[in-house]
Amino acid sequence: MSDQNIVWHQHTIDGAQRSEQKRQKPCVLWFTGLSGSGKSTIAGALERALYQAGAHTYLLDGDNVRHGLCGDLGFSDQDRQENIRRVGEVAKLMVDAGLIVLSAFISPFTKEREQVRAMLGDAQFIEVHIATSLAACEQRDPKGLYKKARAGEIPNFTGIDSQYQVPQNPEIVLQTEQHSLEECVLQLMSFLKDGGYIR
Ligand code: ADX
Repeated sequence: MSDQNIVWHQHTIDGAQRSEQKRQKPCVLWFTGLSGSGKSTIAGALERALYQAGAHTYLLDGDNVRHGLCGDLGFSDQDRQENIRRVGEVAKLMVDAGLIVLSAFISPFTKEREQVRAMLGDAQFIEVHIATSLAACEQRDPKGLYKKARAGEIPNFTGIDSQYQVPQNPEIVLQTEQHSLEECVLQLMSFLKDGGYIR
């Protein structure tokens, strides 16, 4: 709950100065897609390419954040909403710090994704849908979780018995079944260069 007795303090160094110092236009690349769709792999490869290009980045990854910041949350609809709300707030702070943030969360619900978009504004929120089909994710099953979910050992598993709402208007769609990892990274780097996010 925000308190009416707490007043925002305007510090002298602001977001514009921090991004100018880093010579980049900060934003969030919000990767969304099913478990096993390739979010972490693509975000990791993009971060490496950005690092090599001299950009200042940070990668927020669901599997890691759930060990710390969101370690108290499970996979009910309510917990997923709170997970995305917290990550959105952290991403916003990092954008204010001048960083190019990559976030890799299933983020299955349109409402929460749109809330993060509204918090950041269209210019700073780049929604990237990793459009890997459920069939392909299930076939890859890198962590063996689909097998367990099908066996009834993981309740509320996204795509099985918990829904994934496909983004209707994402800035970028990545078709990982037709394009290689390198091609996906090139597509993202071109978007960032064309939009003036990086030089
Ligand atoms: S989100 O829905 O709240 O955005 P998040 O991206 O943080 O999910 O975490 C997803 C990861 O948690 C999956 O990649 C998978 O490894 C693991 N996981 C464990 N239980 C579930 C579940 N019930 N549904 C989806 N992923 C799960």
